[in-house]
Amino acid sequence: PIAQRVSDLLGRMTLEEKVGQMMQLDARTGELDELIVKRHVGSILHTSPDDLVRAAQIVRNKTRLGIPLLAGDDCIHGYSFWPGATIFPSQLGMACSWDARKVEEAARITAEEVACTGVHWTFSPVLCIGRDTRWGRIDETFGEDPVLIGELASAMVKGYQKHAQAGDAFAEDAILACAKHFAGYSYTQGGRDASEADLTKRALESWFLPPFERVAKEGCATFMLGYEAIDGTPVTFNKWLLDGKLRGEWDYHGTLVTDWDNVGRSVWEQHIKPDYETASADAVKAGNDLIMTTPGFYEGAIDAVNNGMLDESLIDDAVARLLTLKFQLGLFENPRLPDRERISATIGTDAHMQANLELARESVVLLRNNGALPLAAAGAEAPRRIAVVGPLADDAQNQLGDWAGNSGQVPWMPEGQPREMVTTVLDGVRELAPDGCDVVVARGANVVELVPDPEGELFPDGQPRPNIAVAAPLDEALLDEAEVVARSADAVIAVVGDVVQLTGETCSTATLELLGGQNQLLERMVNVARETHKPLIVVLISSKPQVLPPCIIGANGVIVDESPTEGLGAFIWAANPGMQGGRAIAEIIFGMTEPSGRLPITFPRHAGQLPVFYNEIRGQHGDRYADLTQDPAFAFGEGLSYTTFAYGEPCITNGAEFTAQDAVHVEIDLTNTGARTGTEVVQLYISDVVTSYTWACKELKDFRRVTLEPGETARVAFDLPVSACTIVNGDAERIVEPGEFEILIGHSSRYSDLHTTIFNVVEG
Ligand code: IFM
Repeated sequence: PIAQRVSDLLGRMTLEEKVGQMMQLDARTGELDELIVKRHVGSILHTSPDDLVRAAQIVRNKTRLGIPLLAGDDCIHGYSFWPGATIFPSQLGMACSWDARKVEEAARITAEEVACTGVHWTFSPVLCIGRDTRWGRIDETFGEDPVLIGELASAMVKGYQKHAQAGDAFAEDAILACAKHFAGYSYTQGGRDASEADLTKRALESWFLPPFERVAKEGCATFMLGYEAIDGTPVTFNKWLLDGKLRGEWDYHGTLVTDWDNVGRSVWEQHIKPDYETASADAVKAGNDLIMTTPGFYEGAIDAVNNGMLDESLIDDAVARLLTLKFQLGLFENPRLPDRERISATIGTDAHMQANLELARESVVLLRNNGALPLAAAGAEAPRRIAVVGPLADDAQNQLGDWAGNSGQVPWMPEGQPREMVTTVLDGVRELAPDGCDVVVARGANVVELVPDPEGELFPDGQPRPNIAVAAPLDEALLDEAEVVARSADAVIAVVGDVVQLTGETCSTATLELLGGQNQLLERMVNVARETHKPLIVVLISSKPQVLPPCIIGANGVIVDESPTEGLGAFIWAANPGMQGGRAIAEIIFGMTEPSGRLPITFPRHAGQLPVFYNEIRGQHGDRYADLTQDPAFAFGEGLSYTTFAYGEPCITNGAEFTAQDAVHVEIDLTNTGARTGTEVVQLYISDVVTSYTWACKELKDFRRVTLEPGETARVAFDLPVSACTIVNGDAERIVEPGEFEILIGHSSRYSDLHTTIFNVVEG
């Protein structure tokens, strides 16, 4: 019946009403009345709950057909724009958990919270690959690996949509997911956001498309098209990608939305379309359904049809897909407006905050432990005074990171998220420190200061340019104070990192170093710890991997001739850990929770190493710098526990020769050899030994979180489909090449952590 209702309604719509349905505008574009009544707008985004209610009244009372609006928003790690919503770790933080079940739960909770506010659709998850970490949106990715991204994105889509697929009816507490940004947006020049990302089709097929292919086939309801171009054609107009891959090969029937003014930008910024008529016609011909924030699309598309440049049936196809979504959401019967009662019963509940804490615990990655952690371990003398220093120690808004309503862009959330809903590291340490322990505090350094953009007050489209963030000057008085406080304590926790002005769309950074006086603060703290033998725990709260000073990562050059990390007790990365992050970190510091996070992304030693990622193409002699090792500071998959694990040797139990239709069954023993319960993330990589085209040295294919009691051994088994062991040939086709393959299983992507076995693929 939905198809029948769609064709009936479509048959009654004028061209103007149909073109309006294809437009998504934000309430700032103009008066709601004007947008809805005169321009027939079908969708709105970033709209306050009051405006959602007003908009629905206008639709009901003043439009001929009463077609409900589709309301979208960026609910990225929780409902970013809702005061008091449960804000989870950033997507990159979630990825540190390598736990699809917990990620699905976070998305489920987000959907419940969003659905009762009148929003039907989140522009999430991000499936971009995080390779160049200067890019401002690294925090929104699941990291650098296509298999990990695919697994977690699939979980997130299921959580948002409550397992509904494109075509199904959506439950009242389910929302539409949106796989974005299709495809290659992250791989821009110099990491600069929305600069050219002219990827080869082979590179796309190899790494960038597979996660999208997975969620397209699993029924993600919508896709958002990125800003970038492929072979000179922006994705918005790219037939190879949209018709060939997405709608063609993958048989995707969902809805496509452009990114912010992609159609307009092709005219006024990229200068590849002469006018709005051409741009609008080409966007519809390429298969776009909903045009985000391009007011000129309205006249452009109508003129294009009237001038014979665009076939109206293509507009009908797009509108049919949009109406189908509205029927699937049941909006004609229930426009799903903000529901005060449900809001107060659903948003930010204790149960949601508990789930948030559980995910945050798994998102914290312990990267160094020279015996300092857990602090106050059983048997050790408990500290009587703990110094908590550093600019991120008690900074609730920057702990949450981007998309948490704290970047000053949400008019109805001027203060960001309520302070009392966030547990900072300082709060967490105060709550959990041993009885009678004093907690003393010093800021130690500033991070950035905001100055007017030297390029002027406005962007070319008339939007105001925000202030830019520059490194704050060194403040010796803050450093001295922190040193005094540290010397007065038995243990020091230093919390450093970045701030929201250094992350997000249009906020790529040339430098990855800790800004302000933070490196100097760490050096001072390491010196104190070295001299006094006090445990020093460094916690990094940052939107992305940063380039850390030698006192954390050791010497930076080729010659490793000293141990500058002496004095460092432990180092933890927590990404942006969400509202419960400070509590999760404190629990780990005090040993109440076992660390189990693993890196979904590589930490470089130097910004000049970028891009640096584990699955690089096998290089040749000279594939190194003369002045820097290519070895990363911390590798993909790394992360420590408080216990130790021993791996046996992998063993293939169902033969030695396989065809492309088979699965290789491989098993490995894992033993907890330490004294504490712990969780290991067992990682399975493969390497195709000889390939006809240059190919990755190794690739992750599967992983498992395994929890073991002290002394316990588990046999961890994987079924590896040979069809997953592809390379991509020169014609951008995925193929399995017969020959020898290596399976590598172990603790991280570092060869020294991996145990290998061999199998053969034969024709057949
Ligand atoms: O969803 C976002 C997208 O990720 C970047 N441009 C703006 C969109 C809507 O806010």
